[in-house]
Amino acid sequence: MSQVLKTDAITMQFGGLTAVDSLSLEINQNDLIGIIGPNGAGKTTAFNMITGHYLPTKGNVFLNNEKINGVRPAVITQKGIARTFQNIRLFKDLTVLDNIRIAAHSRCEYGFFDSIFRTKKFKDYERKIEEEAISLLSIFKMQGYSDHLAKNLPYGMQRRLEIARAMATKPSLLLLDEPAAGMNPNETIELTKLIRWIRDEFKLAILLIEHDMRLVMEVCEKIYVLDYGKTIAVGTPSEIQNNPKVIEAYLGSEGVENE
Ligand SMILES: Nc1ncnc2c1ncn2[C@@H]1O[C@H](COP(=O)(O)OP(=O)(O)O)[C@@H](O)[C@H]1O
Ligand SMILES: [Mg+2]
Repeated sequence: MSQVLKTDAITMQFGGLTAVDSLSLEINQNDLIGIIGPNGAGKTTAFNMITGHYLPTKGNVFLNNEKINGVRPAVITQKGIARTFQNIRLFKDLTVLDNIRIAAHSRCEYGFFDSIFRTKKFKDYERKIEEEAISLLSIFKMQGYSDHLAKNLPYGMQRRLEIARAMATKPSLLLLDEPAAGMNPNETIELTKLIRWIRDEFKLAILLIEHDMRLVMEVCEKIYVLDYGKTIAVGTPSEIQNNPKVIEAYLGSEGVENE
């Protein structure tokens, strides 16, 4: 499978703090990979470097073999990285359908001229986006909610919409930042299935940050463990669960809770 993402020893310093220290990730198409570690370990900061929100202090990020550090986040989205956030970021006062439609527009193929004069190209494109948004909602089993305001959806459904919205940009890499946070056990089980299904259906790479160990161990084929910015282990779920360093830094306390 072809390589989608490579980070070559990326480091992020905030003043005297090294939030991420020489992180080297390699992700291929169809991979489902996890990043775990205690709060403050640098997981979200790693995402922010990959998506162009932060410029790494050192190191490079490659997407499909193209160096992308220094590229603006909106352009990185167009190049194929989509993400969800630790705290849900939806347009809460817009409908479910409009949330998807707006995201699909990030692949905008018409210019200012087309939109002002409502050219045929513009109208065709709008129609195409609408059709795609509707079909995406049906794939995500949310077609019955398309007119609902995002803020009125139950929590688990908002998370689902956020993932559907990310998929509207047709990414080759999907980043999920604590997708199970705040979910009840049933919602988490649904999410576990959804993540695996998205990978199989869209054949893309998924990188997820998660504290729910059952979810991580069940869906990820490879896991990176961060602690104080450093990568303390990389391995399969069973290698990680049996790694003494990981147990000491992280799983010792939080792993048990999830048994
Ligand atoms: N923009 C920022 N400015 C200063 N410090 C930051 C910034 N973003 C994150 N940090 C710090 O970097 C460390 C890692 O944070 P973060 O990546 O959010 O951790 P995690 O997602 O693993 O919980 C923390 O100590 C956090 O306070
Ligand atoms: Mg975080």
